[in-house]
Amino acid sequence: MASLTIRQLDDRLKKLLRLRAAKSGRSVEDEVRTILRAAADEGSDGALPEAAAPKMTRRADAAPQTKRVLLIIGGGIAAYKSLDLIRRLKERGLSVRCILTKAAEHFVTPLSAGALVGEKVFTDLFDPAGEFDVGHIRLAREADLIVVAPATADLMAKMANGHADDLATAVLLAASSKILLAPAMNPLMWSNKATQRNLAQLAADGVALVGPNEGEMAESGERGTGRMAEPLEIVAAAEKIFGATADKPLAGKHILITAGPTHEPIDPVRYIANRSSGKQGHAIAAAAAAAGADVTLISGPVNLPDPTGLKLIKVETAREMLNAVGHALPADIAIFAAAVADWRVANAGEQKIKKKAGEKTPELSLTENPDILSTIAHLTAKRPTLVIGFAAETENVIANAQSKLARKGCDWILANDVSPQTGIMGGDNNTVQLVTADGVERWPTQTKQDVAAMLVARIAAEISKS
Ligand code: CTP
Repeated sequence: MASLTIRQLDDRLKKLLRLRAAKSGRSVEDEVRTILRAAADEGSDGALPEAAAPKMTRRADAAPQTKRVLLIIGGGIAAYKSLDLIRRLKERGLSVRCILTKAAEHFVTPLSAGALVGEKVFTDLFDPAGEFDVGHIRLAREADLIVVAPATADLMAKMANGHADDLATAVLLAASSKILLAPAMNPLMWSNKATQRNLAQLAADGVALVGPNEGEMAESGERGTGRMAEPLEIVAAAEKIFGATADKPLAGKHILITAGPTHEPIDPVRYIANRSSGKQGHAIAAAAAAAGADVTLISGPVNLPDPTGLKLIKVETAREMLNAVGHALPADIAIFAAAVADWRVANAGEQKIKKKAGEKTPELSLTENPDILSTIAHLTAKRPTLVIGFAAETENVIANAQSKLARKGCDWILANDVSPQTGIMGGDNNTVQLVTADGVERWPTQTKQDVAAMLVARIAAEISKS
C-alpha cells in the first residue's frame, strides 16, 4: 500500500483536517486515524465521516486530573539533570511534555529526552510536521505549569524582554500558565547586573524561581551561586505551585511574621516591656499556616502555647528580632505585628543594680532601637513582595497610620486603637482598619482569629493578581 503523509495533502484538505482536529482536541495525525477507522467500520464509500469528538483531549482522556508539565530544557551543562527531572516528575503522576532549545541539543539529545518522556520531544518553531500536529500555541495552552530547567542567562534575558525567536521562547510568550525557572549558570553570569535586572523583571511578571544553589561549578575550581536546583527540589517547587488550591491559597509562599512584645534589659533581672500579648501575630501565623503557607514566626516573650506546623523563633530584644528577621529572608510576604520597644537601655547593667541606702536612684539612659519594619520595607534586594505593618495608636488613628505607611515604606498598615478602654492590647478581640495607598477599609470588631483569617484572605486575593 502506498504511504501518504499529511504534508502531501492539498491545502484545502489540510485546513479541513486542522479545523476538525482543533475542534475535537486531537492531533492531526490522530484525527486522520479516527477518520480512517470510522470509514473502515462503516464501510464508507470514501466520504469523510463525522467522527464523534471525544469529550476531552487525548492527553486529558488518559487521566482527567493529571497535571501537565511542559519542561523546557535550556542549553547548559545542567541539562543532564533535567533527564532525571523528567523521571521524577513522572514518578509523581505528572504528565510531561518536553521542548529542547537548540543549545540544549548540545548537551542532551531529543532521543534520550523523548525516551524518558514517552513521546516526541519538540525542538523547532518552524518544523512543519510539529507545528501542524501540535503547534506552539497549543503546547503553551496545554500546560498547567511550564518548568524551564536549566534556565540559562540567555533564556532569562529573552523571557524578560518578550523575545519569541525559537520554539521555547514562543511557547513562553504564549503561556498563560504559571512558569517555574530553575536557573543554572556561571556565578559571574548570575551576579551580573543584567541577569539580576532580568530576574527582577521576571519576578515582577509573576514567574516563580527555584534555586540557583551555591556550590562547585562545572568549570574546575569555580564555586559560587549558579548551580541548578536538584531535580527533587524542582519537583517540590512544582508541587507547591500545584498545591495552591482554593483551600490552600498561600501554598508555596514563605510568610514571615513578627509577634509579641520585646523585652529590653535594664540589668540581668529587670527589663522594659509593653502590654502586647502576641495573640494577634500568633493568630495570623496560624491562619497563614492553615492556608498552606510556609510560615516563620518570630515571637517576643508571650504566654501562649507554642504553635505547631510552622517555624517558631523565640527572641527577647528588638535587636534579636531584627537579626532573626534578616536570617529568615527571603520571604514572599512579611507581616510585622510585634510591639517592638522603640528604645532600649543604653547603659544596661551587667550585674543586678543594687539599691544602696542614701544613694541617688539610678537613671536609665535610653537609646533608639532599630525599626525592623522600616528596615525590611526599604530593602532593595530581598524586599518581600508584600510588606504589612501594624499601627498601634491611641489618637488620630488613621492620620497616624497613613503617615506610618509612608514613613516606613510598607504596602499595607492595619491600624488599631490601643487606648486602654478598647481592651485590644492583651484582649481577644480587635478592631482594625486596613490602610493602603488606595484608601481605608474599616473591618468589623471581631476575634483576633477572625481578623487573621480576613487578612489571609486579603493577601491571597492580592497575590492571585500577580
Ligand atoms: N515596628 C518595628 N520596629 C520598631 C518599631 C515598630 O518593626 N522598632 C513595627 C511594628 O511591628 C508595627 C509598626 O512598626 O508593624 C508600627 O509600630 P508602632 O508601635 O505602631 O509605631 P512606632 O514605629 O513604634 O511609632 P510610634 O511609637 O511613634 O507610634
